[in-house]
Amino acid sequence: MTFEAALRSAVGPEHVLIDPDLRSSYETDWTGRFSGESRAVVRPATTAEVARVLQECSGARVPVVVQGGNTGLVGGSVPPAEQGANPPVVLVTTRLAELSDVCVAARQVTAGAGVTLAVLAACARAAGLDFGVDLAARDSATVGGMVATNAGGIRVLRHGSMREQVAGVEAVLADGRILSRLAGLAKDSTGYDIGHLLAGSEGTLAVLTRLRLRLVPAERRRAVAFIAVAGTAEAVDLLAALQTQLPSLCAAELCFAAGVALVARHLGLRPPLEGTGQAYVLVEAAGQSDPLDELLAALQACPQVLDATVATSAPDRAQLWALREGHTETISALGVPVKLDVSVPMARLAELVDQLPGAVADAAPAALLVIFGHLAEANLHVNVLRAGDDSETVTAAVLSLVASLGGSISSEHGVGRAKTRWLGLSRSRAEIDVMRSVKTAFDPLGLLNPGVLLPAQRQAGA
Ligand code: FAD
Ligand code: MLT
Ligand code: ZN
Repeated sequence: MTFEAALRSAVGPEHVLIDPDLRSSYETDWTGRFSGESRAVVRPATTAEVARVLQECSGARVPVVVQGGNTGLVGGSVPPAEQGANPPVVLVTTRLAELSDVCVAARQVTAGAGVTLAVLAACARAAGLDFGVDLAARDSATVGGMVATNAGGIRVLRHGSMREQVAGVEAVLADGRILSRLAGLAKDSTGYDIGHLLAGSEGTLAVLTRLRLRLVPAERRRAVAFIAVAGTAEAVDLLAALQTQLPSLCAAELCFAAGVALVARHLGLRPPLEGTGQAYVLVEAAGQSDPLDELLAALQACPQVLDATVATSAPDRAQLWALREGHTETISALGVPVKLDVSVPMARLAELVDQLPGAVADAAPAALLVIFGHLAEANLHVNVLRAGDDSETVTAAVLSLVASLGGSISSEHGVGRAKTRWLGLSRSRAEIDVMRSVKTAFDPLGLLNPGVLLPAQRQAGA
């Protein structure tokens, strides 16, 4: 039997895509910046099918690129541009879409890796609970991809990142062996936590097939404020005040006048508070009872607030959120950006924002810089349009600046293919050595997502 025939026998002929036209949407990432050819796209529907696909790939020494919703922003879910003689199979998890009943007492649910965030959240809400992580790609991003990237999003300040939601995992190793710890035990001290290790492993260690996920209490009453402040330092001071004065605080996001103007134009919205301050903080308060009075009182007590607009109804709240969440789509409509996702110690955030324009202009004089991010984690999304041939120079300049401020070159999107060269700016040689040893233990033949996360070979400074 040929390799392709073996794949067809594993998942059914209609789920092995060989025709280049059928493969193409799986071979380019969401940003349009990363793409490469595959040998085949394979779409298994069960853990057993995933195991069979991986056995075939491992037997034939064919590399495997793992893909969920393909909303990742660092190129980890698509084949590399440089093709060797052995192009990879793209293993797509979206058919792993089973959802168990919610266990309300344990506040947990088991989801197939291909379940989207929106479907998971709807399931949790139907059971009177909620899911703790939320992000704008909710309709396509899968829980497998979100665990694999340790996704963050807009509620980290309340519930943590994706790793914190993982109560158990089922995953398939490169050779087809299945690891299964889905009991969701609240207490378990039997050694290394493999589930938490797989969170953030970006498809380099195993294919996640099912996740046991924690759910959180539903908070149905919400209020959102879009607040003008003088600049980043004032935004940080405002956050400090709200952290103590507003117990119902569940999101604190940062954007800037120039970016909001672009988003408003793209979405056809009127930018609120125009001409007041250089920065905006979007704050959401949530609780079992209406948090509006608490929010208004806190805003009144904070001298950093130059002006604010507040929304309580769902459509009005969505409109304010659109000014923040619309940045990604707006930027992509303007061109293919260099997208960098960084964090620094909170005390250095204002310095980073001040120094970025100079660093980017020195590296690529014609570039357009658009920044925004998650204020509560000092997580800035640095988008550079029109970098042209200077993409790598811009990346080096921004990531070196971040490292000099004691920050991380990837706050929540992962390292992917985009930033492997710079991993040594955030991880020591000893850490990278340990990560390589872990990779070898899970995947001795190096077949899962080669070229993602870990640099292909050790480089100076790595
Ligand atoms: P993919 O893009 O398919 O894959 C991402 C990585 O995970 C790849 O390395 C892939 O190989 C690996 N992977 C996927 N599935 C599996 C699996 N089952 N087993 C093992 N490895 C796997 N991210 C944030 O953190 N916060 C945000 O606020 C945020 N907002 C976004 C907004 C928009 C509009 C967009 C387009 C993206 C945003 N993202 C955000 C990025 C993206 O949505 C997340 O990285 C998400 O976790 C990716 O999920 P996915 O299913 O699309 O994964
Ligand atoms: C966001 O917070 O909106 C995202 O992480 C997406 C992006 O960086 O564009
Ligand atoms: Zn983000």
